[in-house]
Amino acid sequence: MKERHLKKVHVLFVCLGNICRSPMAEAVFRHMVEEEGAEGCIAVDSAATSSWHVGDPPHKGTVAKLRENGISSEGMAGRQLNLSDFDKFDYIIGMDDSNIRTIRDLLGQPDHPKIFRLLDLTEHGRDVPDPYYTGDFQETYELVIGGCRILLDRIKKEYQI
Ligand code: 4NP
Repeated sequence: MKERHLKKVHVLFVCLGNICRSPMAEAVFRHMVEEEGAEGCIAVDSAATSSWHVGDPPHKGTVAKLRENGISSEGMAGRQLNLSDFDKFDYIIGMDDSNIRTIRDLLGQPDHPKIFRLLDLTEHGRDVPDPYYTGDFQETYELVIGGCRILLDRIKKEYQI
């Protein structure tokens, strides 16, 4: 069991561009947290390993998939991962193996347990496919939902939320 004290549990989702997968995971996870009334205990954010889309809103495919499922993406804007994120966040969750390698490099943390791949929480550890290239936002959405559900259950258990 981890000590929560008065501090929120901070969760950061990371992908290459911070316009497709990690903002989708951020919005989905925040929605789940709010549905459970746990927003006072858990804070959610997302970031990119690249600087390519800093300040940009999520991709229109991500916005459409979220809206279709009644999930807001209002006010979201891309940002790049930075060194202070390592201290601020309790979980730094990449979408694919390449993200994990880059996160470790950028943060100078070759092997820290708070850094892991979202779907390594599931039975079949795998990458979340990038819909920027596949065009399949539904497939990505379903995988993100599955990973986020397990993540929230794990955090609730670990921190007795
Ligand atoms: P994401 O997808 O990492 O899921 O946000 C991408 C978004 C943009 C680019 C590549 C992947 N890009 O090349 O601009």
